[in-house]
Amino acid sequence: MQKQKLKYEGKAKRVFESDRPGLAVIEYKDDATAFNARKKGTVKGKGRVNNLMTAHLYPLLEQAGVPTHFVELLGETEQAVHMLSIVPVEVIVRNVAAGSFAARLGLNEGVPLDSPVIEYCYKSDELGDPLVSDNTPVAMGWAEPGVLAEIRRLSLLANDFLIGYLADRDIRLIDIKFEFGLLPDGSVVLADEISPDTSRLWDAASAEKLDKDRFRRDLGGVEDAYQQILTRVLT
Ligand code: C5P
Repeated sequence: MQKQKLKYEGKAKRVFESDRPGLAVIEYKDDATAFNARKKGTVKGKGRVNNLMTAHLYPLLEQAGVPTHFVELLGETEQAVHMLSIVPVEVIVRNVAAGSFAARLGLNEGVPLDSPVIEYCYKSDELGDPLVSDNTPVAMGWAEPGVLAEIRRLSLLANDFLIGYLADRDIRLIDIKFEFGLLPDGSVVLADEISPDTSRLWDAASAEKLDKDRFRRDLGGVEDAYQQILTRVLT
């Protein structure tokens, strides 16, 4: 499979057209950004970790009933995926209070939630991915009602699977961001990635942060944390 024209370059990935109809190539970069790109840096090996972690988890999620855009691994930092029409909504699922949720509600990070909280954000770099209410995606025409219901169902299913999978590897899934898209036949599939860039992952015993918060908050040991997550996830 050959990469062709660059279709899109994001903060952490490049997406290329390919010589196979309907398929694209995603190249994961080591570039890291936070706070809507006001903080920029590089995390050595991050592209490899995020690519390999996503390529490992997506087939397992498929077995658990969550269709994904993943097709095949092409190399250490590249994978083939189905081209999708992306739904411009980021879905955050929270199991434990942290980050912007903890700040908004004046909670200490680490307070468990009685049931998973789902939040929708509008995918817009200019606006900084603002939080929107549950019915905004339908009212704005970003997703049909049935599509949004399916996105919600698949987000909870994926969250459930990942909580268990990661707990078996002594990792606590605090929160995670999902993105979805539509295949040409209209079916909803999980897109983007699952990685320490897009989730909060704490060591189950020590509560040590093993995710992008180490970069965001200048905690040090960023590369080691990413490598450690990959090693545990692949075990
Ligand atoms: O910052 P906040 O607490 O809202 O983030 C919730 C979760 O969503 C975190 O795991 C964070 O890494 C992820 N996230 C993301 N992309 C964004 C915003 C949040 O992957 N644009």
